[in-house]
Amino acid sequence: MPRDLLIRHATLPDGRRGIDLLARDGRWAAVGPGLAAPEGAEVIDAAGWLLSPPFVDAHFHLDATLSHGLPRVNASGTLLEGIRLWGELKPMLTEEAVAERAMAYCDWAVARGLLAIRSHVDICDERLLAVRALREVQRRVAPYLTLQLVAFPQDGALRSPGAMALLEKALALGVEVVGGIPHHERTMADGAESVKRLCELAAAHGLPVDMHCDETDDPASRHVETLAFHTQRLGLQGRVTGSHLTSMHSMDNAYAAKLVALMADSGVHAVANPLINITLQGRYDGYPRRRGMTRVPELMDAGITVAFGHDCVMDPWYALGSADMLEVASMGLHVAQMTGQAAQRRCFEAVTTNPARILGLQGYGLDVGCRADAVLLQARSPQEALRLRAARLAVVRGGAVLSRMAPAEARLSLPGRPDAVDFTRQPSAAPEDPAG
Ligand code: FE2
Repeated sequence: MPRDLLIRHATLPDGRRGIDLLARDGRWAAVGPGLAAPEGAEVIDAAGWLLSPPFVDAHFHLDATLSHGLPRVNASGTLLEGIRLWGELKPMLTEEAVAERAMAYCDWAVARGLLAIRSHVDICDERLLAVRALREVQRRVAPYLTLQLVAFPQDGALRSPGAMALLEKALALGVEVVGGIPHHERTMADGAESVKRLCELAAAHGLPVDMHCDETDDPASRHVETLAFHTQRLGLQGRVTGSHLTSMHSMDNAYAAKLVALMADSGVHAVANPLINITLQGRYDGYPRRRGMTRVPELMDAGITVAFGHDCVMDPWYALGSADMLEVASMGLHVAQMTGQAAQRRCFEAVTTNPARILGLQGYGLDVGCRADAVLLQARSPQEALRLRAARLAVVRGGAVLSRMAPAEARLSLPGRPDAVDFTRQPSAAPEDPAG
């Protein structure tokens, strides 16, 4: 019998303080103040720190991660050079090397409290090497990390010879989401046709859809409109995600207003990837230089589920990153100017509850009966977690502690000043917050 786990004196994301949570048989068995510790239970004193459901990444590329510099770096910093570079690297990949790098990334993820990842996997390869490697990784990490795989035709479902057949093969090998990249097809018409055919394929297999969609500064790239249309036509509401959607940044406001309403009507989810959008988009601009991220607050206001994804870590598209979803959310917050207290909370939700909904995770949360997964953050609120990119003091999965970290602490040697630095000190007066 695994031991019970009691977490004492936690603050929860909804603001409740002094809460105890008892994990038994992998689930939260009791949540409330003043719980007694069962005999033999492991006890963690949260000491008032924030206990959150774990981070979830709705958009990642685990087959490319940690390959930065192989076989060379992306000199222009553009999406298109990244795709070319990945194409050069593909023939040199081995299943073992891809799996080894992916496993190393999953270690980082766990230590950061990131316990569910939706990863695209490139299927434009006759060997389907990355698919086989990531299916094996999925099996190995299953006890501690939920990995969902998307069949992603990186070189274009129609543009790349044989890609549709390879995509179906990947689904037969157990890949569970249908991907796409309509803006990378040869023509706008081909892009629209790819969206239609991929949505029909997903409907026939009863699978969700998650497409790279309109990842360009070109405001004429409107494939998400087609995605919303086919979602509605095929009855796929709630099962379809448009990822990136960066062209929306540059669209005419009148058209964007119509589009956002269409997306809301069709029940399409949206994923922005702030670290990648801010660095890959605007590369053809002089000044002013566009930010490139999609219209996050407007999409949220329309009732669309919006998540922030990490997308890349140390790969042909992005040389930085460390599986830190607080860094991702912090960048999203800044780029979208979501600095109000309520807006900051929504940014925290964009790396927790929102992506959990997009991935369709069952039993996600801190309520009784949910799976006993959580991350203890060295912060007193979601906003403070974002501000400090708080240390992950403990990471729990199914009631078992997977990772511990000592609280971050700095000591001063300054005459007349206290020796401990308190980064959680609150402002002396509650600030006015007209932004809400
Ligand atoms: Fe991506």
